[in-house]
Amino acid sequence: MRHDLDSRESVTSLSRDVACGASGSAAQLQSDTGRLSCDEAIPETNAERNVSSKLCDEPAACRALASQGLTDEHGSPKFASPAASPGEGEAMPPAPPSTFSAVSGLIRGELQAVEDRLRDLLQHPRPEVAEVLAYVGHLSGKRLRPTLCLLAWQACRGDLQARSLTASGMAVDAAPSAVELAVVVELVHTATLIHDDILDRATHRRHRLAVHRRWDRHTAILAGDWLFSTAYGLANSGDSTHPGRQVAEAGRQMCEGELLQHARSDRFDCQLDDYLEILRLKTGALCGVACWLGAWASGAEEAACQSLYRFGEQLGVAFQLQDDWLDMFGRADSTGKNVGADLRDGKATLPVLRLFEQLDTSSRNALIARLRAADPEQRMEILLPMLARSDADAFTREFALKQGRSAADRLDGLADSPSKEALRLLAGQAVQREC
Ligand code: IPE
Ligand code: IPE
Ligand code: MG
Ligand code: MG
Repeated sequence: MRHDLDSRESVTSLSRDVACGASGSAAQLQSDTGRLSCDEAIPETNAERNVSSKLCDEPAACRALASQGLTDEHGSPKFASPAASPGEGEAMPPAPPSTFSAVSGLIRGELQAVEDRLRDLLQHPRPEVAEVLAYVGHLSGKRLRPTLCLLAWQACRGDLQARSLTASGMAVDAAPSAVELAVVVELVHTATLIHDDILDRATHRRHRLAVHRRWDRHTAILAGDWLFSTAYGLANSGDSTHPGRQVAEAGRQMCEGELLQHARSDRFDCQLDDYLEILRLKTGALCGVACWLGAWASGAEEAACQSLYRFGEQLGVAFQLQDDWLDMFGRADSTGKNVGADLRDGKATLPVLRLFEQLDTSSRNALIARLRAADPEQRMEILLPMLARSDADAFTREFALKQGRSAADRLDGLADSPSKEALRLLAGQAVQREC
C-alpha cells in the first residue's frame, strides 16, 4: 500500500524561506558529507555541547535528575565517571519507574525477574570486562521489549486458557521461560543501541555518556557484540530452534533497515514509503519478535504468534515515529539522549517529509539543495522556523497516533483479558511518551 502525506496547498511563507536562504558553498558540502574514520576523535559538535545544558535547563527537571543521582547539586549532569557504575557485587538498581508503569503492573514480578537475570548475566570475573558490562547494566531503559514479550505471553496464556485449547507442538510447561526470552530481546536491543550510538555519533544515551564516548569505539563495538552473542546463546539454549531463528531474523532486518537508512543519509529525498519501511525493519522487527517470542513461550499456535508479531511490528513503527518526533521537538532532559541528531545525520524523518510535501516543487528542491550544502549543525536552525510555521509537528503526532491505533486493532483476534487491554494501552503510550 502506498502512503501519501495528504498533500495540501503549499505554504507560501515556507517557500519564501527557502528562496531567501538557498545558498551553500562547496566547503560546506564537504563538511556536510564528511565521515569519521575509525581513528578520528569524535569532534564535539554544537548539538553535543547543547545536550549537557539542555539536559538540565529547568529547575524541576534538575531536581528530578538530582533525586535520581543523575546530576550533582548544581544540576550538572553526572556523566560517566567510573564511580557512576555499580561496583563489583553491588546490586543493580531496581527497575526504574517505567514509562509504561500503567500497563506493567500485571507483569511486575516477571519484569523484576528480568532485571535480576540481567544483573546476573552482566557480572563478569574479569575486571576489564566487568567494568564495561556494569556500566551497560547500570543504564536501564524503558524495557519496552521485555514488557511486550511478557504481556504477549500472558495474553496468549490467558487466551489459551479461556478457549481451553491445548498448545500445538509444545507443551506449555516445556516452553523456555518467557522471562528468559524477554531478557534475550532486551540484550539484543541494548547491543543495537550501543552500536547505533557509534553509527549516529551520539554522545548520550539513557542520561549518560554513550559507551563509545565513555570509553571508545573499540570498546563499544565489542560490548555490543558481547551482548549479541550472549543473547543468541540464550535464545538457542532450549530444545527448539525457533527462538534463535526469530532473533537472528530480527537482527538481520534491523541491519537491513540501518543500511537502507544509511544509503539515503544526507540526500533528503527519502519517500514516505521508504521511510516507513526503514522504521519497520530497524524498530518494528525486534518489537514484533518480542511479541512473537512471548506468544510462543505461552504455547500459542503459529497463527496467534504471527498476529502478535504483526501487532508488535506495527507498535514498533509507531514507537519509532514518536522517537523521530522527540528527536525533532523533544527535550534531551526527558529523553536522556541527543536531540536534533537525525537532521544532523542527514535523516529525513516524518516532520521533514511533511514540510517538503507542503512546498511547491521548486521550493522543495531549493530547500533540499540548501540542506545538502549546509553544515550539518546548521540544519536545525534552517528548518526549525519553517517547521514551526508548518503543520509538521501536529501532523507527525497524528500520524503516529494512527499507527498506534492500527497496532491496537491487530489485537482484535485475541480473547479479551487484562493483558490484552494492557497491550492495547501500550500501543497508545508508545506514541504519547515524552522520553
Ligand atoms: C531507542 O529505543 C531506540 C529506538 C528504537 C527508538 P528505546 O526508546 O526503547 O530505548 P530505551 O531502552 O528506553 O533506552
Ligand atoms: C535506531 O533509531 C533504532 C535502532 C534500531 C537502534 P534511532 O537512531 O532514532 O534511535 P535513537 O534515537 O538513537 O535511540
Ligand atoms: Mg540513534
Ligand atoms: Mg531517534
